[in-house]
Amino acid sequence: MAPTFDRRHLFRASGAALGVVATGLVHGGLRRAHAADNNGPIRLVANENPYGPSASAQEAMANALADGWMYATTEARVLRGLIAEREGVEPSNVLITAGSGELLKMAGLGFGQTGDVVAARPTFSMLVGYVRNTGGTVHEINLDKNMIHDLAAMEGRISDNTSLVYVCNPNNPTGTLSDADTLRSFIDTVESRTTVFVDEAYVDLLEDPSSNAMVDQVKAGKNVIIARTFSKIHGMAGLRIGYAIAREDLIKRLRPLQMSFLNVMGLRAAVASYKDIEFQEFSKSKIQECVSITQSAFEDLGLPYTPSKGNFVLFDTGGSVRAFSTAMRRKNILVGRSYAPYESWCRVSMGTVEQMAVFAEALREYYKG
Ligand SMILES: Cc1ncc(COP(=O)(O)O)c(C=O)c1O
Repeated sequence: MAPTFDRRHLFRASGAALGVVATGLVHGGLRRAHAADNNGPIRLVANENPYGPSASAQEAMANALADGWMYATTEARVLRGLIAEREGVEPSNVLITAGSGELLKMAGLGFGQTGDVVAARPTFSMLVGYVRNTGGTVHEINLDKNMIHDLAAMEGRISDNTSLVYVCNPNNPTGTLSDADTLRSFIDTVESRTTVFVDEAYVDLLEDPSSNAMVDQVKAGKNVIIARTFSKIHGMAGLRIGYAIAREDLIKRLRPLQMSFLNVMGLRAAVASYKDIEFQEFSKSKIQECVSITQSAFEDLGLPYTPSKGNFVLFDTGGSVRAFSTAMRRKNILVGRSYAPYESWCRVSMGTVEQMAVFAEALREYYKG
């Protein structure tokens, strides 16, 4: 009689074998420390964080390899629960998305179809770009002279037809922070007329995230949507996990617009990293160290820069950003670009401490020859 095999058992066994291989991979990955150590260009271009993913997140992903066959519904529920608990809201106030970028697009699509959108200039372009790409209208209000959101002018632009105001705090690409109380009173004044979308991608990097975060406004029942991401402090940009915190009716309005179904790797990594406070402190301190190395280099050369609260710094090249970035590219360093109306200013994202020392040296050579 032909031997019979238990297929399920066989698959389990191969899953276990994969797990062993995966663990080896993780240790290899950890030994390599950061993708930044490879021989590719130094990426100071996309506000990534080469200190992540944490060892705990990498281990969680290795353990998740064999579970790739399952839809990740349990993981999404676990992560929602953790976020809700830490933020003091209900799980029904939390929506997990494929990076906060997906959430920004969902809001751009949903609200951009029912009215116009008011946003700062310059600010992170994903939401406003999506509004425009889907036929909506955006009113842009220049930042003030300190490159901070001009909330009074934004309030003045809100009309009966405005469905959403986008406030990125800290703002990308300037790294500037709106005063928390001013933002709270702005929300208070406008929320009966329009939804306020506060993008807090970089809020975890602040000295005092909780007093600057607008979750208290959600808890107070205000017409506010908050966006957060695992791409920055957690160093998981490639794993695509972000989330919204908002009133339940707003979450219900956003949810049908979601396109993605979340992946088990990203979710398991997010759960592990969210619990890993030690890593988050480490990550934040490295980013702060990088910012201070970079800002000192600008100061030494007399180049104006913004006092950034993010993992990037906007500085005045004093000339052509294209010429500057081409020169950096020749040195194997990728830097960001300019943002209208600051045509001579260039955004530089933080890499590792060692990479920022290389950048500082390249900067000196560029300006001093
Ligand atoms: C302000 C801001 N919001 C959202 C995002 C999107 O991040 P992700 O889609 O990786 O969560 C970014 C990315 O750079 C950002 O700077």
